[in-house]
Amino acid sequence: QSKLCEPREIFTPRVNSDGFDWVDPDARSKLQAALDAVADRTWEAAQSVGSIHKTVTSPGRDDIVGIARWATAAEAVQAITEVTPWTVDPENRRAVLYRSADLYEAERVHLISLLMREAGKTLIDCINEIREAVDFLRYYAEFADPTPSVGIVTCISPWNFPLAIFTGQIAAALAAGNGVLAKPAEQTSLIADYAVSLLIDAGVPPECLRLVSGEGAIVGPILTGTAGIHAVAFTGSTATAQRINRTMAASLTPGTPLIAETGGQNAMIVDSTALLEQAVRDIIASAFQSAGQRCSALRMLYVQEDIAPALTEMLTGAMDALVVGDSTDFATDVGPIIDATAKARIDAHIAASTIVHQGPKGGSQHVAPTLLRVNGINDLADEVFGPVCHIATFAAGELPQVIADINASGYGLTFGLHSRIDSRVEEISQQVNAGNIYVNRNQIGAVVGSQPFGGHGLSGTGPKAGGPRYVARFHRGWVVSALD
Ligand code: SER
Repeated sequence: QSKLCEPREIFTPRVNSDGFDWVDPDARSKLQAALDAVADRTWEAAQSVGSIHKTVTSPGRDDIVGIARWATAAEAVQAITEVTPWTVDPENRRAVLYRSADLYEAERVHLISLLMREAGKTLIDCINEIREAVDFLRYYAEFADPTPSVGIVTCISPWNFPLAIFTGQIAAALAAGNGVLAKPAEQTSLIADYAVSLLIDAGVPPECLRLVSGEGAIVGPILTGTAGIHAVAFTGSTATAQRINRTMAASLTPGTPLIAETGGQNAMIVDSTALLEQAVRDIIASAFQSAGQRCSALRMLYVQEDIAPALTEMLTGAMDALVVGDSTDFATDVGPIIDATAKARIDAHIAASTIVHQGPKGGSQHVAPTLLRVNGINDLADEVFGPVCHIATFAAGELPQVIADINASGYGLTFGLHSRIDSRVEEISQQVNAGNIYVNRNQIGAVVGSQPFGGHGLSGTGPKAGGPRYVARFHRGWVVSALD
């Protein structure tokens, strides 16, 4: 059940993508065979503007995925002059976005292969990511209407959801009739390139969607600071969002919208009434799925002191059972860290902390699922973007202080609560400052349409992705009053 404020109805019945039934052994072996058949393919970027060729390798594997094309500063400037708003009627835009969703589903094998190889994603993460991308396309398509677009929108997306967030930003901006300059993360240029080829095959005019892959430090300031950009959608770190905000303020028309989805120091509270088996399963998923490389991931676990010994024992046992390994192996639960720089940052944090427990180590590009002891969220500094969860205990009377501390972090993205006391659930849900609150379940994997996603404060600007207010941000305000 989700509580939503719906300012507007969806016009046609829409169902989320079915994904793929990976529990069916036949379907799994067919998928494995299909993936094996494309496993050695060398991908060549075809859509991105740019003359710099970059060899892309798989995180932690001796595997050349392909050759990306990155733009120089001059090529990025040129791309801005070439892109135009998508002025066709809204029904046409809607149909093209629906066709894009169908193409994504039809091309699932190639997309899974690319996500596994370039982004190091596990099978379940690949499937969920493709579903989310498809859902964004169909959901935002429903908001295509005659309201004028803002014009040209820059979309800057992260490596941790290189298909879903990349596609979601673009789909929303296109649904509203804008032209789009899409800048994918450096680490995932090839997935972006392939996604753009599908969008163009489905009918998005190439002049309305320019892919500008490249180095963030070079291309980013151009795509966020050149006159003629009318809005920026960004998902990534809080620090980068602040930098973009300054660039936009210095160079663009005052009030140019920045839609930023950024980091989190996401907490979960487990009280004495929680069902421990369920809490453990949800902690494992929230903290360690996607190797913790989600902005929604659980970072700070608070456990009521009387259940802490039992919960910790069960949790560490479950951590030991995780399969840490190669993303292309269907049995893997925890895949690699995206690159060496990111891994070094996580390793340094663990080395400076008090370790409660570590699960299996994996290979040279992996970080073992790790539980660290802290006094509370005040001990956390920067977001640690990996399979690392911090644990603290609290006494019953300390709950108000725990909530005050969580709110004082300044972030407000996801929050998890395991409790069987309805009045407590109600009260804490009101008190805690988080955009997405999950009760007696895991706190990752927001579903388009039913769980619009996004936070406040240091976690982002809103409006929530996959929610009814998102596309409106890419429209101009518009009123026509006429007398006969
Ligand atoms: N939307 C993702 C989630 O809910 C995070 O970006 O986990």
